Amino acid sequence: MQDTPEVAVLRLGHRPGRDERMTTHVGLTARALGADRVVLAGAATDRRESVAAVTERFGGPFDVTTTDDPEAFLAAWPGTVVHLTMYGLPLQDVEAEIRSRWLAEEAPDSDTGTPLLAVVGAEKVAFEVYRVADWNVAVTNQPHSEVASLAVFLDHLFEGRELGREFTDAERVVVPQAEGKRVEDA
Ligand SMILES: C[S@@+](CC[C@H](N)C(=O)[O-])C[C@H]1O[C@@H](n2cnc3c(N)ncnc32)[C@H](O)[C@@H]1O
Repeated sequence: MQDTPEVAVLRLGHRPGRDERMTTHVGLTARALGADRVVLAGAATDRRESVAAVTERFGGPFDVTTTDDPEAFLAAWPGTVVHLTMYGLPLQDVEAEIRSRWLAEEAPDSDTGTPLLAVVGAEKVAFEVYRVADWNVAVTNQPHSEVASLAVFLDHLFEGRELGREFTDAERVVVPQAEGKRVEDA
């Protein structure tokens, strides 16, 4: 979101064939709900173009970057790591603390805040990720999906403000309609 420290999303564990749409939807959800960037690793890098194409058409700013070494990327992340997992602490118990660190409210003399990396998996996530994370966060302790958990997490982090985010440099703009569809050239 504008004028706040970076929020990036790291997608771990893409299974070719099975996770193509899920990985694309992680990227699209990150973009639509206020993150600044999605980071695709390994085989997931194939989805880069499909997420970037939506940004080109419907606007940004939003980046898609890749890494061939997600463990090293995680270890080198210069801020807070939030791993979304059904085994973690309830989101509603930790969201204020996470937001506070992201916005630097914990350090009133700092105006820079702390970049935040939200990590979502596909299949089993390596234990090392649980260890490296500053918070392991559950969006309920029930199994569901990386897309759902990312959407709810971002909405809580931004306290709903992402719903009114303005996108710039779009080719096409959706004009809200009570009925039907209207899309115009920007
Ligand atoms: C289909 S789940 C895979 C779960 C897998 N059994 C595991 O051991 O992590 C894929 C991803 O969805 C996310 N996820 C699923 N349920 C969640 C929940 N209740 N809270 C937070 N994240 C969740 C996690 O990021 C997880 O890695």
